[in-house]
Amino acid sequence: MTHPAAKRIVLAFGTRPEATKMAPVHSAIGAHPGLTPLILSTGQQRQMLDEALAVFGLTPDEDLQVMTDRQTLADLTGRIVPQAGKMLREMGADMVLVHGDTTTSFCVALSAFYEGIPVGHVEAGLRSGSMREPFPEEANRRLTGVLSDLDFAPTPGSAANLRREGKGELGLFVTGQTAVDAVREVAGRMSLRPEWQAKLDGGQRLVTVTMHRRENLPMMPEMAQALADVARAHPDTHFVYPVHLNPAVQEAVRPALSGLPNFELTDPLDYAQMAPLMAASALLATDSGGLQEEGAALGVPVAVLRNVTERPEGLEAGVLTLAGNDPDHLRAVLDRLLSDEAELLRMRSARNPYGDGQAAQRIAQAVAWHFGLAQRPQDWA
Ligand code: UD1
Repeated sequence: MTHPAAKRIVLAFGTRPEATKMAPVHSAIGAHPGLTPLILSTGQQRQMLDEALAVFGLTPDEDLQVMTDRQTLADLTGRIVPQAGKMLREMGADMVLVHGDTTTSFCVALSAFYEGIPVGHVEAGLRSGSMREPFPEEANRRLTGVLSDLDFAPTPGSAANLRREGKGELGLFVTGQTAVDAVREVAGRMSLRPEWQAKLDGGQRLVTVTMHRRENLPMMPEMAQALADVARAHPDTHFVYPVHLNPAVQEAVRPALSGLPNFELTDPLDYAQMAPLMAASALLATDSGGLQEEGAALGVPVAVLRNVTERPEGLEAGVLTLAGNDPDHLRAVLDRLLSDEAELLRMRSARNPYGDGQAAQRIAQAVAWHFGLAQRPQDWA
């Protein structure tokens, strides 16, 4: 039973990947008798966020409903900052936890700072080193780090980035990545869609594709064309690409990729379908951040459709490879990987550098420690 004087910990987020990675944190905080978890959704992504939460049986306690069609970053910022501050006050927040690098994260952290509410930053300290890639995420995570009181770095490398920027030891924890907790839990309890299982049974390989980043939008039609060429060259492989609901992404990729027999364009998949699809794939080709960690956690090789990554541990371990966003280069990299089973096997056997599945537990303990309710947790690594 939760104690009436329990500290009110508001988990604030607004996009699909944040929901997935914060769900294990919600459950670990809920398991502590001195802490009450509450969810504040900004609604930055309306449908995709709700679907992501439903997989974990969660619904927001409060919702700012900020999403508009083709919203700009300035629109979002102008709506979230004043509304989040007012709502955090009404919710009686003792602490706010934000995640990663979205516009929601930075804006809620800024509101909480203005309200004098301590901020914990989950997935802190990732850096690509390039302010424009990913855009605007590299700026969002740096700005959030300036405002945060507690920093939950997923790896020793991300903690080192924060130390370099002058963050002190007291509020800094190496927890592992909560995506590892989430993907293992969901891939373990859900099964692969029957039509994809049938492809595997028929001897085809599966490749999961995602591509949605803002900085990739200008070359996305040509990147999609390159993916179509790779699919034509590998008829033994069935590609599944759940296309982001952003209309700009839909318009960029559908012309080149529609109508191929072995390239399936689907609506966004909820995590209950996505996690087993990734687990059954021979390769993930993606410009997403989260899929890089999920691939590593599941032992599935990842071709990263970006020029830089803020997740260098996966490159060092050998489970990630940078394919870039130049269409000719990414065509060559994907073609080579899909023709080289031995290389895919080597990538599959890489060590997972992102965590042990206990990250959320460590974060909850660190929050309890902040309020004098628990011992300081041991770092993961
Ligand atoms: C945002 C995050 C990015 C994350 C991605 C995951 C920022 C700056 N970027 O980027 O880090 O990887 O989410 O999805 O915060 N839309 C819908 N329905 C939805 C979701 C989106 O229609 O459920 C449409 C809307 O028209 C919206 C557009 O997609 O305007 C773009 O969504 P938005 O959240 O603004 O940015 P992303 O580029 O998805």
